[in-house]
Amino acid sequence: MIVLMQNEFVERDQCLIDIEDRANQFGDGVYEVIRIYDGECFLLDDHMKRLEYSLREAQIDYNLDQHHLKDLLLELAKKNGVHDGGIYLQISRGSATRSHPFPKEATPTVIAYPLNISRPLEAQKNGVKATLYQDIRWLRCDIKSLNLLGNIMAKQHALDVGAFEAIFYRDYNHVTEGSSTNVFIVKDGVIKTHPANNYILNGITRLYIQYLAEQLNIPFEETVLTVEEVKHADEVFISSTTSEVISVVEVDEQPIGNGQPGPIVTQLLDEFFNYHR
Ligand code: PDD
Repeated sequence: MIVLMQNEFVERDQCLIDIEDRANQFGDGVYEVIRIYDGECFLLDDHMKRLEYSLREAQIDYNLDQHHLKDLLLELAKKNGVHDGGIYLQISRGSATRSHPFPKEATPTVIAYPLNISRPLEAQKNGVKATLYQDIRWLRCDIKSLNLLGNIMAKQHALDVGAFEAIFYRDYNHVTEGSSTNVFIVKDGVIKTHPANNYILNGITRLYIQYLAEQLNIPFEETVLTVEEVKHADEVFISSTTSEVISVVEVDEQPIGNGQPGPIVTQLLDEFFNYHR
């Protein structure tokens, strides 16, 4: 595997990251997962914009040259022969003697490497189960931070109870998102999802679904959903770079609609590659 380390391409075992890189001790960094279809990065500009946002909000002093980075990522994909798959990109605040304050002089550490991702066709065809899980995370979920302990605990819980995804709620009147996805419902023909604020990650796929809904004349509303609204929705679905769109047909043993992927999620998936933002 060829890895991008700062501005250089190196073999994986030559990619040496200091033990005191702040990503290790503090999870002090941000990341992106980018999908590659047919050798092209999907929605790359949106990922670059969000990366810039995460860096700014986390006050990581990195001068992002989007054009240069985009070229490097495309070259990385090429060097690894990635035709269909993905790229993981991480920028940490850099390496410094362990101490909580931001170090005065540290150079952000940039790494990127290919991910083996394939389309979740089976899950898309049949739909998946989800389980509700209390949102134990912090209050800046809009930053795509490396701190994912709350997310991975939720995902493991989901797998442990035979579900595919955990749907977070802050309280019963406030469903936020999935452990690694955004959550949507359909009620009376309207797609509804959490507003893009500090409680959720503003998913690139979420933005793309918003755009698709506009193109397809499907009403789209940003609103806070309750647990009851999710359980009694006509359709529930999740989205992410790796999942694209997946129907949720059961939430904690409660079938959603008729327990099959519904018409709107099916339409979104059918049209997923027919538009270009
Ligand atoms: N996760 N919400 C959370 C908490 C996420 O971790 C993700 C993505 C999303 C969807 O965002 P996007 O559409 O930009 O992928 C929402 C990535 C894929 C991951 O951590 O692997």
